[in-house]
Amino acid sequence: FESNALDGIRVVISAGPTREAIDPVRYISNHSSGKMGFAIANAAAEAGALTTIIAGPVNLATPENCQRIDVTSAQDMYQSAMQQIGQCDIFIATAAVADYRPATVAEQKIKKNDDTMSIQLTKNIDIVSAVASHSNRPFTVGFAAETQDVERYAKDKMQRKNLDMIVANDVANNNIGFNSDDNAVTIFCRDDDSMAIAQTSKQQLGRLLIAKIASQYKQ
Ligand code: C5P
Repeated sequence: FESNALDGIRVVISAGPTREAIDPVRYISNHSSGKMGFAIANAAAEAGALTTIIAGPVNLATPENCQRIDVTSAQDMYQSAMQQIGQCDIFIATAAVADYRPATVAEQKIKKNDDTMSIQLTKNIDIVSAVASHSNRPFTVGFAAETQDVERYAKDKMQRKNLDMIVANDVANNNIGFNSDDNAVTIFCRDDDSMAIAQTSKQQLGRLLIAKIASQYKQ
């Protein structure tokens, strides 16, 4: 592992879940821990990158030598990502962005009067797609959590979102992924190169991913 593989390169990483407000006290979110993104940020900084994490609400310490921007909703994360574009050579999207948000946010706490209630949802913007389609686009890496046909869905996602690289994990396997300390992935690149990384700690996986990203970025 080269300790200077990303010397002076500006890396921005989105990490963690987002929270979509329903009313002043309630929200919709998911179980993303942010561990994978923070491990990648740690590895990027170790490799000499000027590293920024755009973090949703997570319970993690900021890795050494990383700048951190805390956000809450998908819309906040999108705005923050767009602000970083001019100062970003590599964007790595690990965040589990909520696909939908409540169409309206109640100004007051919603009362439990009726036996049923429904919340109208509206689609959130796809942050990594927006970054990858920008005129001044950085080298863009996305993640794909799939339960079946991992290769086909991941490659399709790379195309559709205009990514340079996609990191796929099989979330049907309970030992890895969300909230766990370990992960196993397959990386697919646009030049049809692929690389499997067997189950290992997210810290170690972060280093291996950064090494692969650095070599692809330089090509
Ligand atoms: O479409 P899907 O959610 O499976 O795509 C996952 C990838 O897209 C991840 O890299 C995730 O961070 C990114 N994403 C995003 N904004 C969204 C949804 C997903 O950046 N609104």
